[in-house]
Amino acid sequence: MKDNLILIGFMGTGKTSLGKLLANRLGRGFVDLDQKIERDAGMSILKIFELHGEKYFRELEKKAVREVSERKNLVIATGGGTVKDAENVRLLKNSGVIICLTTEPEEIFRRTERRGERPLLDKNDQRLETIKKLLAEREIFYSQADYTIDTTNWSPLQIMNDICEHFKI
Ligand code: S3P
Repeated sequence: MKDNLILIGFMGTGKTSLGKLLANRLGRGFVDLDQKIERDAGMSILKIFELHGEKYFRELEKKAVREVSERKNLVIATGGGTVKDAENVRLLKNSGVIICLTTEPEEIFRRTERRGERPLLDKNDQRLETIKKLLAEREIFYSQADYTIDTTNWSPLQIMNDICEHFKI
């Protein structure tokens, strides 16, 4: 299967860790969309949000999606909000199969505790409520995946094995 394997899902669902593992196992290249945006912009996601705001970040994200979806044989970890944009979804769907990782909000809360990495959850004393609200808003976007796995109680290794079995790769 030459198609890209594209991981979508909320912050803290484990897209980056799983993506690296999967790429390694399958001998594919790995692209983390957030890291690509940071490299291209020469600054962290946090700085991009601080200096230019979310709208500008979304433009950079769209550009990054356009670039990676031209490539093949990759594992791609997207950002939690990438699939809010219909054009991003169209391009990603054309370039491969979309796998959604889901996780219970309380576990997302624990996994995203470290500050300074996620502008949408930082400086927020109602983080769990924000997580639940965003999850509800985004459910419809995440439901566009070809395959969905709940990662709440699974290790990256177990998830990887499940994906390989499901797609026979
Ligand atoms: C975002 C998720 C982040 C990053 C940015 C916006 C979102 O990616 O793209 O902070 O809108 O959910 P991760 O899902 O990799 O944390």
